[in-house]
Amino acid sequence: MSRLVVVSNRVAMPDNAGSASVGGLTMALAAALQQYRGVWFGWSGDTTPTFTGEAHVRETGGVTIATIDLEAQDVQEYYNGYANTVLWPLFHYRIDLTEYERAFGEGYARVNSRFAETLQSLVRPDDMIWVHDYHLIPLAQELRQRGLKNRIGFFLHIPWPACQLLTTLPQHQELVEALFAFDLLGFQTQDWLNAFNGYVTDELDGKIHGDGYVSAFGRTVRVGAFPIGIDADNFAQIVQSPAAAKSYDQAAATNVYRDLIMGVDRIDYSKGLEERFAAYDQFLQTHPEFRERVTYLQIAQTSRSEVETYQDIRTRLDGVAGRINAAYGTLDWTPLRYVNRAYGRDFLAGVYRAAKIGLVTPLRDGMNLVAKEYVAAQNPRNPGVLVLSRFAGAARQMKAALIVNPYSREDVADAIKRGLTMPQPERRQRWEALMTGIETDDVSTWRDSFVAALKACRPQAHPVSAPTIATAGANETVIRSPAGRRGVEAQARRCDAGHHRNFVGVANIPAGADRADDRPIFAADKDAAGRRRHVAAAHREQGGVEEGLGGRPLGELAAAEPHAEGALGLGGGDVGSE
Ligand code: ADP
Ligand code: G6P
Repeated sequence: MSRLVVVSNRVAMPDNAGSASVGGLTMALAAALQQYRGVWFGWSGDTTPTFTGEAHVRETGGVTIATIDLEAQDVQEYYNGYANTVLWPLFHYRIDLTEYERAFGEGYARVNSRFAETLQSLVRPDDMIWVHDYHLIPLAQELRQRGLKNRIGFFLHIPWPACQLLTTLPQHQELVEALFAFDLLGFQTQDWLNAFNGYVTDELDGKIHGDGYVSAFGRTVRVGAFPIGIDADNFAQIVQSPAAAKSYDQAAATNVYRDLIMGVDRIDYSKGLEERFAAYDQFLQTHPEFRERVTYLQIAQTSRSEVETYQDIRTRLDGVAGRINAAYGTLDWTPLRYVNRAYGRDFLAGVYRAAKIGLVTPLRDGMNLVAKEYVAAQNPRNPGVLVLSRFAGAARQMKAALIVNPYSREDVADAIKRGLTMPQPERRQRWEALMTGIETDDVSTWRDSFVAALKACRPQAHPVSAPTIATAGANETVIRSPAGRRGVEAQARRCDAGHHRNFVGVANIPAGADRADDRPIFAADKDAAGRRRHVAAAHREQGGVEEGLGGRPLGELAAAEPHAEGALGLGGGDVGSE
């Protein structure tokens, strides 16, 4: 029987004790898989001195969970490095926080290759594979190169950046090319999909077909927007649980004379917490009549704490929270309660219900599930008000919220005031509209529509077949790739993993060189100093490289042909050199 194999970096079945690894992705996948009985594969979160490739397999709630341990260097370069110091800030429009290091890219490629290595042995020919998020963009390419023909879909949980931002990433084309090894690409909203399509047309000269397919790099993939939702039925049950009733009572009793304003986020600069604190400060300053009549509770769990930008934001938030409490607090009133820990689902549900305002003001967010949970937890007769950033993907769907610009403290402060004073009929009207959307577009709709689209995908017109690698002489490696120049470059980097600085570049052999057809062959050699040099030839594949090039060794060709030398980019360009 065909199974759904879900792959994500983070694998965590949420527990009610308050999991250490919270986040929208695991919340959604745990809910999606429980009803499906599938396999969930990813990183265990643990390290091992030497990568073994062995998966630890266990069953939980009908789901088979398979995880691998990574080496400390992998975690540093792939997770802390490329994923969370390069892609995360860049995709959240923070190029000022993006730090490119070549070692990060190598670690990213290596870990994706390791994921593929282990996953290959777990996958059956008729399984469908669904890969999640920015950590694993090259995974389908790796799997295809190992001969996997399964349907493979990809869902991006975070925004897709505007073209001008993405092009600041070294090797951005290579990254996007890897996406074309999937059959289906899913985005949270039409905005992010439009941004992807913009890159394909403007940067790749690709084609957007009217039927949901997109072509570039000689391949065609299906694309779509699949907004993620929460498990609305399950959340409705949780809200009625005794534990939720208890936390509701606690929160309501503590704030009996005060209205509760609430936020729940991972500590992440994309969540706009610093700006939110400033807006609350502004609110207290401009509306002194509300002092001692409101409390703002911010639950903010630490996240990615080995990454410097996350350490910085945490330090700054501690400072701002302290300043607000020092400025406005009294003997029996703490204006801002700032708590850095994870809570169980039921506890959260009760506190959400007690809060008169749900403050969800990210500066940029793929979707944001907290906004949906807050609404789902409300008392239908007397619901609270959601204040939502226009830059969260959720704002596309949740138009009945008070939509704000999180960069404007006045705007957010006004919305807080408006929410606190909103008459009950208007609150109910807005809540009903929001709740209808949450029930209709829940996590099952998300999963089922993605899986249906993946099943219905046309098979790839140009499947990515493996590059071939052969040794041609003592110092020469020959790489041929049907994916063309980029395929060779990508493979050369993989060959060189760990020795990436030896990679020099690829070049097209000039047209004069005995060209019999257009089929590309590619080759690499080492120069006299022992540096490896990769040469790409638009040339007929026959016998060996030297035979095809009239018996001349590659090094000689590169030196003798000015065209080839120039194209090799030995003087610089986007190729690596020692
Ligand atoms: P992101 O995935 O970027 O963290 P989302 O808002 O989409 O943002 O999802 C966050 C998820 O993590 C929600 O389901 C939320 O309830 C949960 N969560 C966030 N912080 C906590 C916390 N401190 N304790 C428990 N759950 C949390
Ligand atoms: C966001 C990302 C997820 C990630 C989660 C928590 O939701 O889209 O991929 O799992 O944040 O972050 P972490 O780094 O702890 O997995």
